[in-house]
Amino acid sequence: MNNIHVLNHPLIEHKLTNIRNKDTKTKDFYENVQEIASLMAFEISRDFPLRDVEIETPICKTVAHELASDVVIVPILRAGLGMVDGIRQIIPSAKVGFIGLYRDEETLEPHEYYAKFPENIATSIVLLVDPMLATGGSAIAAVDMLKKRGVSDIRYVGLVSSPEGIDALHQAHPDVEIYTAAKDEKLNEHGYIVPGLGDCGDRLFGTK
Ligand code: PRP
Ligand code: URA
Repeated sequence: MNNIHVLNHPLIEHKLTNIRNKDTKTKDFYENVQEIASLMAFEISRDFPLRDVEIETPICKTVAHELASDVVIVPILRAGLGMVDGIRQIIPSAKVGFIGLYRDEETLEPHEYYAKFPENIATSIVLLVDPMLATGGSAIAAVDMLKKRGVSDIRYVGLVSSPEGIDALHQAHPDVEIYTAAKDEKLNEHGYIVPGLGDCGDRLFGTK
């Protein structure tokens, strides 16, 4: 499965340890999530296409390179919001769309409640961001929504994934590149990732 990328870098691992720690408070948790997202953006953009552009430096005219495709960041609400600013720091020209999904606590099935996308999303590189890939249900539903709008270059970007979630997303959408900062051990009987970091939305927004 060569479109699954586990980005284990010492800085990412260090910051992941901070957010896994149950004693980390909301402000530090959010800052570390943003920082990991920035570091991941560097790796995820490695193969972004470039085009020639003629510019003038203070010395002379020259042909340089700029990004050839528009980039759209699409967080899955709520927890995906925590990763948006970190990626925008590295790719400030990126536009932002939104997908609202929540997971039913009993059935673990995703439910859609919001969608808003920039006009040119179909021809853009889309970074679908959500820190947690647990059963994979939310990510699969979000990719379905993007494909319905004609998007073809979709890269899922997450922090902590279960083996079950990675397999499910890859089976449902083998064309989607999966970038994750960590692949954990398993899911528990409540659909939480083990060891994981708990409920990411609640930890980001201080709601529990
Ligand atoms: C969490 C998380 C993912 C989803 C992952 O969101 O942010 O979107 O669960 O689980 P899955 O892979 O089993 O679908 P949640 O539904 O708790 O909503 P929230 O972000 O609003 O808290
Ligand atoms: N959503 C979370 O926020 N955490 C998990 O471990 C699983 C789903």
